[in-house]
Amino acid sequence: MTKMDVLTALREKDDYVSGQELCERFQVSRTAVWKRIRQLQADGYEIEAVPNRGYRIAGYPDVIAAEEVESRLKTEWMGHPVRYFEVIDSTNQYAKKAAEEGAPEGLLVISDEQTAGKGRSGRHWTTPPGTAIAMTILLRPKIAADRISMTTLVMGLAVSEAVRELYDVPAGIKWPNDVVIDGKKICGILTEMTTDMVSVSYIVVGTGINANIDVFPEELKDTAVSLKMILGHEVNRAELIASVMKYFERYYEQYIAAGDLSAVMDRYNELLLNRGRAVRVLEPGNEYTGVAEGIDTLGELLVRREDGTVSRVYAGEVSVRGIYGYV
Ligand code: BTN
Repeated sequence: MTKMDVLTALREKDDYVSGQELCERFQVSRTAVWKRIRQLQADGYEIEAVPNRGYRIAGYPDVIAAEEVESRLKTEWMGHPVRYFEVIDSTNQYAKKAAEEGAPEGLLVISDEQTAGKGRSGRHWTTPPGTAIAMTILLRPKIAADRISMTTLVMGLAVSEAVRELYDVPAGIKWPNDVVIDGKKICGILTEMTTDMVSVSYIVVGTGINANIDVFPEELKDTAVSLKMILGHEVNRAELIASVMKYFERYYEQYIAAGDLSAVMDRYNELLLNRGRAVRVLEPGNEYTGVAEGIDTLGELLVRREDGTVSRVYAGEVSVRGIYGYV
């Protein structure tokens, strides 16, 4: 009987769970149950222990330790198992190492703090302790390498859905995968792929969410925001991770089954903030403006140019900027 077993059992019921019930369910002694309860209390869980009634959780700490996330996951395989770290260089880096050592598809690496978090285009990504979400999923898709960037769009969609469902805020997507509220970024995604001679061996999808961050450095102030700043209160990071996993599993399976984004494209386009807006496309050696019309089944952004032709922008080494602001 692990801490996670006890947490799951207590969470299943909105009422007291008797010590006897726990003993029978896990075939352990009363002392063993009590020991686990004490450990959970030490981790910050408010657990009431009432004679003749049993145990009940009255308050959760905002921790993202493995058992806290795992006991909330409602997925078949996405997010299993969870490996949690208090501090790590980069969850993407760790997930790649784990993949080389044979870790299973669906592995979720979470860290409370990153010391060398990686952003897109070689930038640094900051994950201060106790306030943000840094997580990476390991996948082993049987799909052509040029279709892998779609996974990133699927994750962007999953994060938007989770944030909308939990906090009832109008989170949208800036193509290809920034999640944005009120014109500012709350989430960034970095997918990295490793191929052998012929096919994709594995990919890692790293997601950073500005959950409870209070202040951003000067250079990010205009473009970044946290959920706490938007909502005026802290969010439970484990709950958010579990919800992202729920949506990601659903949409990822649809994408892999179809081999493209046909099943999720309409929903993505509904949440696409660039849609109908003027954008500037910065391709290496080629810069132009136009109006974004939405993505196609391959995840490419369709941009109508002034001469009426439509260009397809591939989510690779391109940057798309709003003409009048970040989106
Ligand atoms: C971006 O530049 O928008 C992408 C940021 C991606 C950050 C996440 S945090 C978890 C994972 N580990 C990393 O080192 N990077 C990604």
